[in-house]
Amino acid sequence: MGKLLNLVSLILISNLITSFAQDCTSYTFTNNAIYATCVSLPVQNSHLHWNYHPTNRTVDLAYRHTGVSTSQWVAWALNVDGAGMVGAQALVASPNSNGTVQAYTSSVADYGTSLQQSALSFDVLGLRAERVNGDVVVYGTLVLPGGRTSFNHVWQMGPVSNGAPGAHNMGSENRNSVGTVDFVTGQAGAGGGVGGSLLHRRNTHGVLNAVSWGVLMPMGAMIARYLKVFKVAHPAWFYIHVVCQVTAYGVGVAGWATGLKLGSDSVGIKYTTHRNIGIALFTLGTLQVFALLLRPKPDHKYRIYWNMYHISVGYTVISLSIANVYKGLDILDPEKKWKHAYTGVIITLGVIAAILEAFTWFIVLKRKKVEKEQGLVGTSAYGSNGYGHHNGHSQAA
Ligand SMILES: *[C@@H]1O[C@H](CO)[C@@H](O)[C@H](O)[C@H]1NC(C)=O
Ligand SMILES: *[C@@H]1O[C@H](CO)[C@@H](O)[C@H](O)[C@H]1NC(C)=O
Repeated sequence: MGKLLNLVSLILISNLITSFAQDCTSYTFTNNAIYATCVSLPVQNSHLHWNYHPTNRTVDLAYRHTGVSTSQWVAWALNVDGAGMVGAQALVASPNSNGTVQAYTSSVADYGTSLQQSALSFDVLGLRAERVNGDVVVYGTLVLPGGRTSFNHVWQMGPVSNGAPGAHNMGSENRNSVGTVDFVTGQAGAGGGVGGSLLHRRNTHGVLNAVSWGVLMPMGAMIARYLKVFKVAHPAWFYIHVVCQVTAYGVGVAGWATGLKLGSDSVGIKYTTHRNIGIALFTLGTLQVFALLLRPKPDHKYRIYWNMYHISVGYTVISLSIANVYKGLDILDPEKKWKHAYTGVIITLGVIAAILEAFTWFIVLKRKKVEKEQGLVGTSAYGSNGYGHHNGHSQAA
């Protein structure tokens, strides 16, 4: 039995090794070229193979992108002076109508590029491309610029329509295909350069905002609406509500600021709706904080209008917050479980709110009945639901 297990694990391990090896170091090129170094890039099923020649500082390179259809372009680029797409010095492979692929160079000037052919800032010799079993391989010899051997690089795949390369998708694989490559050490940093820290900052922004605007604020509103129906919760509900919303606002502003910074840093990528909702949320949230300071005395005749204003702005903030968390999740495109987790939290809060809503009405109606029997209708601050309910503030505030 033990021997059998050993055999099975040996087979498994050797399969694993060969499948890795076939992916990278032992891949057989059609011209039998041997490359000393190979790295599998972290996204988009791509591999980079090369030989570096220190004497003339050239790199014989093969970029292999697997699973490419005959209506897709692929590209790999060094970004010598910057990072990411703008400034990329790209080797592009685009399909011909007869099934072959043609290679050319394209210097990417802006996000609106259609990858038109142009010269690069450094020389590339012997550029060509081929299609083999669904892989596209681009070959070329780079004459490394600037006395360096370490660079930011990017790689990409996109559709070809009417013979011209079209814009690639904006999924997470497409946005994370950036990194660093060192032709001497053979190291390719996954998401190095801007990529890693950008992803980290996006995640931070997402967590801060999902927790503050997306969870704490709805909870704070529920505290206000449902705790105050209990006489014993006066005036505690008011202070819990304030602490909850002020905390949410504080964390939310930090999240909002990281969002603005992300927006200004990612030139050319615009998430207009997400951004505008974010700005509206910050404005309304700030108004709520100031409204707290400006609220009329409990027995003031305008207090009812203040309550209506405060509650309607509050509900608007919560609806927009939840919508914007979903917008953000679509942009960040993390693993599905995060979206499911957030949906779970929202459904849970919704169910709790529905139960408490029913319970609140039950208590309020029962109280009314008792008061009616005692001839006390209309004199109690707890005697109504809805907006008037907020008179409960009075004792506290
Ligand atoms: C660079 O040098 C290597 C050997 O060191 C040689 O094989 C290669 O052809 C040279 N490349 C160019 C472009 O001169
Ligand atoms: C395929 O088309 C390209 C460009 O149209 C041409 O350069 C190439 O020679 C063709 N190849 C074959 C095998 O027909």
